Amino acid sequence: MAKSLYSHWVPKGMEKRKAAMNILNLEWSEKMSVGVESIDSDHKKLILLIRELYFAYHLGFGNDEIPPAMLKFIDYTKYHFDSEETLMREKASPMLAFHSEEHRQLIDRVLAISQEKVSGLSDEVFQFLWDWLIHHVLQTDMATFAPSAGKTIMPR
Ligand SMILES: [Fe+2]
Repeated sequence: MAKSLYSHWVPKGMEKRKAAMNILNLEWSEKMSVGVESIDSDHKKLILLIRELYFAYHLGFGNDEIPPAMLKFIDYTKYHFDSEETLMREKASPMLAFHSEEHRQLIDRVLAISQEKVSGLSDEVFQFLWDWLIHHVLQTDMATFAPSAGKTIMPR
């Protein structure tokens, strides 16, 4: 992996370091496009918000600063999930029930984490958020939106 600007302050330990670099290098890429501009743009924003939260956490921000950053992430995630679900409802998508359930589970998990404020955060939590987002976008969002947007799903 190329040396990052941030590598001097990522956590020690091979696995933690790897996880941290994944989060710091997390960027939206064309392969994540589901073919719907508003959804792609929401995903870019969500990635930025996860990185912002990660920075705040690793810069040692405390219980005064972290909860507002978490709230911003949670609010935007809810707004985005609502937008996707509205679109699915409009298109009478057969994916609606399954897809909404994935959204609900993530929101429940994130709300539980946020109740613990700073102590709810760890590198593992960020790794979970990162993995969840990538998996959800590439599998569930792609399967739901790409076909009706006329986008061919590329094999990964
Ligand atoms: Fe989704």
